[in-house]
Amino acid sequence: MARRLLLLTTTALSLLVQHAAGIGQETCVSFQSSSSTFSVVSGRRAAPVLISQEDWPGVQLAAADFVADIERVTGVKPSFRNVTTSDIQASGSQTPTIIGALGKSPIVDRIVNTTGLDVSSIQGQWEAFLSRRVENPLPGVSSAYVIIGADKWGTIYALYDHSEQFGVSPWYWWADVPTTKQSQLFVSASGCSHGSPAVKYRGIFLNDEQLALQSWAQGKFMNGTGAPFNHLFYGKVFELILRHRGNYLWPAMWSGKFAVDGPLNQPLADFYGVVMGTSHQEPMMRSTPNEFDAGKWNYSTNRTLSSSTGLKERNELALTSPSTP
Ligand SMILES: *[C@@H]1O[C@H](CO)[C@@H](O)[C@H](O)[C@H]1NC(C)=O
Ligand SMILES: *[C@@H]1O[C@H](CO)[C@@H](O)[C@H](O)[C@H]1NC(C)=O
Ligand SMILES: *[C@@H]1O[C@H](CO)[C@@H](O)[C@H](O)[C@H]1NC(C)=O
Ligand SMILES: *[C@@H]1O[C@H](CO)[C@@H](O)[C@H](O)[C@H]1NC(C)=O
Ligand SMILES: *[C@@H]1O[C@H](CO)[C@@H](O)[C@H](O)[C@H]1NC(C)=O
Repeated sequence: MARRLLLLTTTALSLLVQHAAGIGQETCVSFQSSSSTFSVVSGRRAAPVLISQEDWPGVQLAAADFVADIERVTGVKPSFRNVTTSDIQASGSQTPTIIGALGKSPIVDRIVNTTGLDVSSIQGQWEAFLSRRVENPLPGVSSAYVIIGADKWGTIYALYDHSEQFGVSPWYWWADVPTTKQSQLFVSASGCSHGSPAVKYRGIFLNDEQLALQSWAQGKFMNGTGAPFNHLFYGKVFELILRHRGNYLWPAMWSGKFAVDGPLNQPLADFYGVVMGTSHQEPMMRSTPNEFDAGKWNYSTNRTLSSSTGLKERNELALTSPSTP
């Protein structure tokens, strides 16, 4: 029986974790083959994972996690490449896994166009996804397992849904939940799917982060000096939220200033698709003790300056990719 429960209290994030598939999750992964399965890994060979360079950066990040998760489970690392439809045709008789967001991945759009794959159940639906085995998806490819999201989130959730069923807990990093090793991984021809969630924005907030979380993050990500809540920290938080199929975060706010502490924090939230809000008395993501109380920042007097400065920084930063934390 699948159980996953996340409790938030005013003083701590308390967790009860059981290693199993998530609540309400459709099963499409198995560890033994049958006539209706597609091989992700078998006989120490992994199906290549193909994606389009034009897809969302957040989908790229989650796809890299999906590939790493297959290796965590099986010890076999699939080849992982950006391709165009003509690259796929030229490389011949593979049976790849193909990942992409509708309207964003030319490969996925081409497969939908040429095979008539029915995506009406997800098209235009917030966060929806489907996956399935498709025969002759493109010239030269006999069979592929396609993972298609209606949007950035849907595609990311489809990947983490598979990862969780492969046996990688959303808590593998934060709580060191071990991964059960498998020598083979299969997915069903009919795949998994999910429609739009009943709750549009789902997330967590970091509360009372000082002393414990802040001191830990400072040691872990900053060698004990400097602002601890940087993109290395938030990259891990964003991944955790998305692996739980969340999409929303209120960041550390006591002595933390999300947009200032790490110049890559905002672009990274955008890449991952995590929507940012603020908690407590911190409008505009500024810090109470360090800015409001110290008289350094006041919406009435600083709004123009800070928003134009922020935009300029953001545009410059968005041009440079953050390294995957
Ligand atoms: C694909 O291209 C994007 C954009 O250039 C890049 O960020 C990503 O790392 C590439 N992915 C792979 C698997 O090479
Ligand atoms: C899919 O088909 C539509 C309508 O025929 C066309 O406009 C579009 O360019 C096609 N897209 C791809 C990626 O082949
Ligand atoms: C922390 O120190 C290690 C070892 O010297 C170094 O590799 C790493 O880049 C440092 N991290 C930061 C955030 O300064
Ligand atoms: C912010 O500025 C306004 C206008 O000058 C002022 O009335 C208000 O007291 C200031 N707020 C704080 C917290 O300093
Ligand atoms: C807020 O505005 C004041 C007065 O113009 C300026 O001295 C201060 O540096 C600004 N604070 C920030 C954080 O931009």
